[in-house]
Amino acid sequence: MKKNKAAPEQWTSKFGFIMAASGSAIGLGNLWKFPYVAGRNGGALFLIIYVAFLLLLGFPILLSELAVGRYAGMNAVASCRKIDRKWGFVGGLGIFGAFTVLSGYCVVGGWVLKYFASSLSGGSISPDFFPEYSARAIEPIVWTFVFTVITAIIVIGGVSGGIEKVSSVLLPVLTVFLIGIMVYSLTLPNASEGVKFFLVPDPGEIGSWKDIARIALSAMGQVFFSLSLGMGTLITYGSYLPGNSGLVSNTLTIIIFDTLIAVIAGFAILPAVFSLGLEPTGGPGLLFSTLPVVFARLPGGGFMGGIFFLLVFFAAVTSAISLLEVIVAWLSAAANLSRRTAAIISSAVIFGISCLASLSFGALSGFRIGGMSFFELLEFLSDKLIMPLGGIFICILVGYKWGIKPASREITNQGRLKFRLGKLFEISVKYLSPLLIALIFVFSLIGAFE
Ligand code: PHE
Repeated sequence: MKKNKAAPEQWTSKFGFIMAASGSAIGLGNLWKFPYVAGRNGGALFLIIYVAFLLLLGFPILLSELAVGRYAGMNAVASCRKIDRKWGFVGGLGIFGAFTVLSGYCVVGGWVLKYFASSLSGGSISPDFFPEYSARAIEPIVWTFVFTVITAIIVIGGVSGGIEKVSSVLLPVLTVFLIGIMVYSLTLPNASEGVKFFLVPDPGEIGSWKDIARIALSAMGQVFFSLSLGMGTLITYGSYLPGNSGLVSNTLTIIIFDTLIAVIAGFAILPAVFSLGLEPTGGPGLLFSTLPVVFARLPGGGFMGGIFFLLVFFAAVTSAISLLEVIVAWLSAAANLSRRTAAIISSAVIFGISCLASLSFGALSGFRIGGMSFFELLEFLSDKLIMPLGGIFICILVGYKWGIKPASREITNQGRLKFRLGKLFEISVKYLSPLLIALIFVFSLIGAFE
């Protein structure tokens, strides 16, 4: 069995790894992006396309990343380089992506902490509060700082001592309480309106092939973001896996868990919104303007609101640590630093970028790059460029540079496990995924679906 000296740290159990990797996948993408994006893009139709993409893109790419990581047993850059000396840039792109996603994530994580604190102190939050609050200069930055520090402390705790331990507690708690909120939400008057919005396609939304293409684009983006693909997170987490773990079964478990939480979030959020006759808005608006109002108006809602924001925090922080770990694993190896020093330096840089991102909602909102605010620019870079490119590169790296045979040997633990989805994996990694991503990537860049 392969031993890796460069990465002495390992997950202590299969459960711990699944919690950590699912913790990375389950995040803001599930709780505020998925319900809305699904609802807006034709409900059931979106779900079908989403599940197809999970299989055709999510499965092969997630599995590829884990396989590369476990095979090489090093950080994202070094692992890709071990496969092909010239291909370290794929990991490098992931590290750059981790900086961009994490900087935005810490700002939103800060908002979540503020809302949690406000619901604890019983203050009612009006829908106008969010634009006003996010435009403030100092307070959001203070909460962003708190979120960044919590993330750094967990990562400094190490792979098994910090990341695995924390995820193993937070993820089960998140799951149980989110199911609780779902039950509560589904029993509210008029809940069926929300279920309809979530699941039943609105014929007006789907008129032409362009609409279908737009839905496909959102579904692909959602698959990438929600499964944390193309950022080196799964290469890094994979590098801490022992040689005898089943990569295929782990991949499937993570995908199913992530999707279940997204669907449960849909059933937890949309019926509550509709039961008050409100319309769901997308992104930050849903989480920070609509939901506080919903919770404030419902019986027992203040308490539910507090729990809800705590859960959002759990989801966000277990994703944030996976992004920071990508950077820390790389920086500590590349610059020969301790985990602690690497975490402090990278968090400081991230906090600097986060400050700019936070200020771009207020003081710096006039500062635009290509028509985008700084926060939007970070989103554009990660969602539209780095994730799809990272996905294509991983496919080429595994399908052509490494080769399906050697990759399959790693995936099957040198032939000890069966690889029933092997054909799907081969066709997807070599042809289907790169072509599909490239197609959608080009269309989205030229704005064909806008
Ligand atoms: N998957 C996370 C979410 O759904 C976000 C994320 C993206 C985390 C990329 C790590 C890497 O919110």
